[in-house]
Amino acid sequence: MKYSTSFIIGVEQFALNEGFCVPVTVDFHKAPHMLIAAPSGSGKTYALRYIMKQLRGRGIVYLCDFKGADFFGLQGCPRYYKHFAVSDGLNEVYGILQSRMEEPQAQNKPIYLVFDEWTGFVNSLPKKDQCEYQCKLSSILMLGRGVGVFVILSLQRADSTNFMNGARDNFGNALGLGRLSRESARMLFPDDTDMIQPKPRGKGYLRTDGRDLTEVVIPQIRDLNKTEQLIKQLLTF
Ligand SMILES: Nc1ncnc2c1ncn2[C@@H]1O[C@H](COP(=O)(O)OP(=O)(O)OP(=O)(O)O)[C@@H](O)[C@H]1O
Ligand SMILES: [Mg+2]
Repeated sequence: MKYSTSFIIGVEQFALNEGFCVPVTVDFHKAPHMLIAAPSGSGKTYALRYIMKQLRGRGIVYLCDFKGADFFGLQGCPRYYKHFAVSDGLNEVYGILQSRMEEPQAQNKPIYLVFDEWTGFVNSLPKKDQCEYQCKLSSILMLGRGVGVFVILSLQRADSTNFMNGARDNFGNALGLGRLSRESARMLFPDDTDMIQPKPRGKGYLRTDGRDLTEVVIPQIRDLNKTEQLIKQLLTF
């Protein structure tokens, strides 16, 4: 693949304890999509920022921000959608999936649908619309890898009711931060639920590509203004 689909999620907690720094990476070409779950205030939006700033030059990003409170500087960017307009962002990416399926190309530029607060959005919809959007997300999760369309999605509690049957299993990467509920831990890490301990914000566990869990720390973003500028460009050009 021409475009790199690999990026850093954070650093290994274990290595940090030993005094050195080992980046933890994921590769969407091998394991597509990422689900991020954490209680409020545990660092979901922060982790999304950390990931997005690495995507510049690697693909086209659509940011759906249901809460609409954390990305003030992005108002007016063509691929920034907030509040109920997040449905437009999802529709747009779903349309790209369909057209790429109809006319497959060898080298598709990756598309990333970054969705902050999926549960909030789903719960805000009437029942019939819930099914429509869950179904669209499900198609992207199931078919996206082959045509370079990926999802990075956050929610507060990884409950299966937020997804169509089985769709959650198409997330090749799961990141749980902070004090995960038993339910979230079971949903994200079904084989390792008993290992999950409460963590402070910005810290947690990553499962990638079916491998063992890694304890991760999301690093501090040194220059938030610069990051906001990078993300602005990412959603504009
Ligand atoms: N890895 C981190 N390093 C330093 N500060 C962090 C980190 N993660 C989060 N924070 C800080 O913690 C606060 C909460 O983070 P954030 O807004 O990302 O949480 P959230 O899970 O998105 O919460 P909510 O569900 O309310 O949207 C923010 O002020 C953020 O700057
Ligand atoms: Mg948030």
